[in-house]
Amino acid sequence: MKHRILKATFIAAVIAMIGSPAWSATEPIQPIQAAKPKNPGMVELGKKLFFDARLSKSGFISCNSCHNLSMGGTDNLKTSIGHNWNQGPINAPTVLNSSLNLAQFWDGRAKDLQAQAGGPIANPGEMASNHTLAVEILQSIPGYVAEFKKVFGNDKVTIEEVTKAIAAFEETLVTPNSRFDRWLKGDKKALTADEQAGYKLFKDSGCTTCHNGPAVGGNSYQKMGVVEAYKASSPAEGRVGVTKEEADRFKFKVPTLRNVEMTYPYFHDGAANTLKEAVDTMGRIQLGKKFSDADNTKIVAFLKTLTGDQPSFKLPILPPSSDATPRPTPFAK
Ligand code: HEC
Ligand code: HEC
Repeated sequence: MKHRILKATFIAAVIAMIGSPAWSATEPIQPIQAAKPKNPGMVELGKKLFFDARLSKSGFISCNSCHNLSMGGTDNLKTSIGHNWNQGPINAPTVLNSSLNLAQFWDGRAKDLQAQAGGPIANPGEMASNHTLAVEILQSIPGYVAEFKKVFGNDKVTIEEVTKAIAAFEETLVTPNSRFDRWLKGDKKALTADEQAGYKLFKDSGCTTCHNGPAVGGNSYQKMGVVEAYKASSPAEGRVGVTKEEADRFKFKVPTLRNVEMTYPYFHDGAANTLKEAVDTMGRIQLGKKFSDADNTKIVAFLKTLTGDQPSFKLPILPPSSDATPRPTPFAK
């Protein structure tokens, strides 16, 4: 019996070896897999909530305001604009491929997408609502009550259901099929000679020690400024705020470089406006390297091949408020 299981395992391993393309073993970056939603009804509900500004005090700010899916899942601002034109403290990372992150936020303080999604709704500097009010609003909208019932099987909307649905939608926001992924999978014409040279420089210079895996980042916390200190234009101190370990001061979650052409400006303080500048800074402060203009151009050309298929769907139409729905207060402090 034991023997037979071993034999089956052996055969499975051989099949896996033959079937697996060469990239998995030899390259530090793997292709992005397309999403396979387990619960399409929940994804649809989460999509509506992602676009619904009624989750904010002003009735004007939705998740999509700062993570605009027409703009690479970001706002393309140095730091975000929140309730009452509040100036955000830190650059908004993309929501694209965020399901691949080891944890959420620059300092990893939320363990997963569901834990993250409750934060902005109640953050006074972002959507400035609170969970009780957000749920009260959704509960007063017959279209939502019916849809929550269909998805979760009960009449009472809860904040856990709200964040679960948003997370289920976010899990679909992956961007497969970039030119780089097609090249990884064997289409050798998918990249130009310069782009391939850029990838080689990216690997040989050591960028892949931190930017690796399917997301080309997102899977570790690393110090910003390994060989040279980084002068940030924001007071954020990174992972130390979560762990209270001095060694984690100025460590940030390594951002994904997928779709990085679309997610400017760069770094947690949004201080680098261009990829050229970001690559130059990374080379200098993380690796002690000064890239020539020609090499910088090649690395940037490679980075631009990481743009994948952007999420594409019909814009959700939100169920209208009822007479009983609490009204937004856009100008309240
Ligand atoms: C006012 C702008 C704003 C709004 C509105 C907003 N976010 Fe964010 N989001 C940010 C900023 C800024 C960060 C980074 C905060 C940090 O790391 O401390 C962030 C971080 C995230 C992250 C973590 C990504 C990563 O790589 O770590 C996710 C996921 C996310 N937001 C999803 C959402 C969802 C879902 C909503 C709606 C419920 C939302 N955001 C609303 C600005 C916003
Ligand atoms: C020691 C780890 C490490 C190495 C090596 C490294 N990076 Fe980074 N990279 C990071 C971290 C951490 C951040 C975020 C830092 C911050 O914003 O404070 C980052 C940010 C970036 C960003 C900005 C992404 C964004 O969305 O804000 C780019 C682009 C980038 N790196 C490219 C590179 C390139 C190109 C190389 C090689 C020349 C490289 N990195 C080497 C850790 C590293």
